[in-house]
Amino acid sequence: MEKIIKTTYEEVSKLAADIFIDVIRNKKDAVIGLATGSTPIGMYEELAKAYEKGVVSFKNVTSFNLDEYVGLDPKNETSYRYFMNEYLFNKVDININNTYVPIGKEEGIEEACKEYEELIAKHGPVDIQLLGVGEDGHIAFNEPGEYLHANTNVTVLAQETREVNSRFFNSVEEVPTKAITMGMGTILKAKRIVLIANGEKKRAVMERLFADDTVSTDFPISFLKLHPDATIICDRAAYPGK
Ligand code: F6R
Repeated sequence: MEKIIKTTYEEVSKLAADIFIDVIRNKKDAVIGLATGSTPIGMYEELAKAYEKGVVSFKNVTSFNLDEYVGLDPKNETSYRYFMNEYLFNKVDININNTYVPIGKEEGIEEACKEYEELIAKHGPVDIQLLGVGEDGHIAFNEPGEYLHANTNVTVLAQETREVNSRFFNSVEEVPTKAITMGMGTILKAKRIVLIANGEKKRAVMERLFADDTVSTDFPISFLKLHPDATIICDRAAYPGK
């Protein structure tokens, strides 16, 4: 696991965007894995800028998002599909039919998990997967616990995650209780993984991650230590150490 520490969030965003641009320029039909949340917003802005300048084209790219809330319509402004359209897909030349975000429909959700897993297997392997990390160490929505799922699954969100994510909603009660998420195995199958983290709120997670070589289901991010090509990029506020 490689660790890169940048001074600012802007530098983290720029470097992560440059890595993705490099992958796409070298493989026009790259399959990329994407994340939502606050952390990737700067990187998506960089990608949109690079597209406008003609530095990169997403024309033949296929994307898979990590997760989606269960019970939110894709048109709902707090859904991850809406987020992706807003922050990236509508700003670049990607074919929207080649952008996949899990469908968080209550009905037939188990089947939807299986289908998403199969779809990734069909188009994959993912060339490069972007990740953020929760303050409790979750990756995608694989929450800390006694065990983790290998495949795309429906998860009950930790109360802490709902509280942290309530900033996107009117109240914590509005935050869905469940999500559909790629599993740990789904994520680890990507050829390359880039995790970005910034700000003091992520410091405890970064310090625990870099403290030793242990891997534990109560700290899902630690599974990245098992991947042959995982890079953690964070700013100084998230990790003041070396
Ligand atoms: C989002 C996702 C989550 C976030 C994590 C951090 O698709 O998979 O694991 O990456 O909750 O969120 P932010 O970036 O808002 O701190």
